[in-house]
Amino acid sequence: MRKCTRKWILVVGARPNFMKIAPLIRAIDEYNRSCQSSLVTIQYQLIHTGQHYDLNMSDSFFRDLSLPEPNAHLGVGSGTHAEQTGRVMIEFERLLQEEKPDLVLVVGDVNSTLACALASVKLHVPVAHVEAGLRSFDRSMPEEINRLLTDAISNYLFTPSPDADENLKKEGILQNKIFLVGDVMVDSLLFNLEKAKKSNILEQLNLTQKTSTGHCPLLTAYCLLTLHRPSNVDNKGAFLKIITALTEISKRIPIIFPAHPRTRKQIEIFALQRYFINSSPHAPCLTPQTCGIHIVDPLGYLDFLKLMMHSTIVMTDSGGIQEETTVLGIPCLTLRDTTERPITITHGTNVLVWNDTQKIIDESFKIIDGRGKNGKCPEMWDGKAAERIVDILANTL
Ligand code: UD1
Repeated sequence: MRKCTRKWILVVGARPNFMKIAPLIRAIDEYNRSCQSSLVTIQYQLIHTGQHYDLNMSDSFFRDLSLPEPNAHLGVGSGTHAEQTGRVMIEFERLLQEEKPDLVLVVGDVNSTLACALASVKLHVPVAHVEAGLRSFDRSMPEEINRLLTDAISNYLFTPSPDADENLKKEGILQNKIFLVGDVMVDSLLFNLEKAKKSNILEQLNLTQKTSTGHCPLLTAYCLLTLHRPSNVDNKGAFLKIITALTEISKRIPIIFPAHPRTRKQIEIFALQRYFINSSPHAPCLTPQTCGIHIVDPLGYLDFLKLMMHSTIVMTDSGGIQEETTVLGIPCLTLRDTTERPITITHGTNVLVWNDTQKIIDESFKIIDGRGKNGKCPEMWDGKAAERIVDILANTL
């Protein structure tokens, strides 16, 4: 019997996409290897839209995650939401017309996710959305709009947790399109833990010092911070409420802050530089005695994972970090008033503190004093989500 080849296009665009696509590529390679006798071979192309384009925001992730070179780079770059979404749609439609794939697979909730899904369905190419069904119920977030619209038009919706299935059903999505598979971000985390342990970022930041016995104990407890949501950094009042809390907390433990480019820009626009200490992994000015908020450049995947594993508190407004801290059992304070990942609160280590200065301080001090929240890992966050997705798609399509 003749073997048939299915052509899939996998899309990445922005930083949080890379660690979600990497396990899917491994699972496809494994499927092709282990199903040599089966009638279907999956041939995939990796397409980078170019929404994120810097070494720190994109290239270093390809290296850390051993991702293959993209087959095509659409080079769309930055812009307003409409400009960015529109440019991706125009370029991706051209590519679809040439390649004529059997399936387009998109992940997450960034502008590239929606743009590629929309271009595909209009050309009647089936779309699989990985990380479907998450809802913050806050439509002022660009990611919420991207999630709602991508889910409404996708053919296969792969969800990370039961709450996501419920959301989709309430929106009228047919049960036979929804597949609860677990979390691909967790697949990446578990797969890379050992590699991350070898990162020397703690030494680079002077957070450890080798002893005569060769051990490298931490010289100080520290808090790890990420902050880039428009609602937190594009409004000076909201940003200052958070900075006031951070300044107070950083009198007790240093805060390490790998800053997103948009946050750096906003710090300059609002002239807030005086609140931060500039630390570079290559010329660290951090010593255990130096409290304060230490800004460093955005870090690669493995370095960030290593810093997260050893931190006392993680504070963030990111989505994925809420999940990663739950899996690692590290207390997480989320600087938002909603989350699209409620399971990290009901099951995990996450607490919402928004930009409430006093709450951020109180919850941080609880953790520093050893009274932080304990959590457990949600079911199916076991490192096998990508395998389940590839099996379902290969057998269904
Ligand atoms: C995007 C995603 C967000 C995700 C975040 C992670 C959307 C709507 N938002 O937000 O969900 O959490 O990525 O990083 O898709 N820039 C650079 N270099 C880069 C990329 C961006 O300097 O490689 C700067 C540009 O000045 C740009 C700004 O960062 O204007 C914002 O980038 P953009 O991709 O538009 O949105 P993010 O805020 O990064």
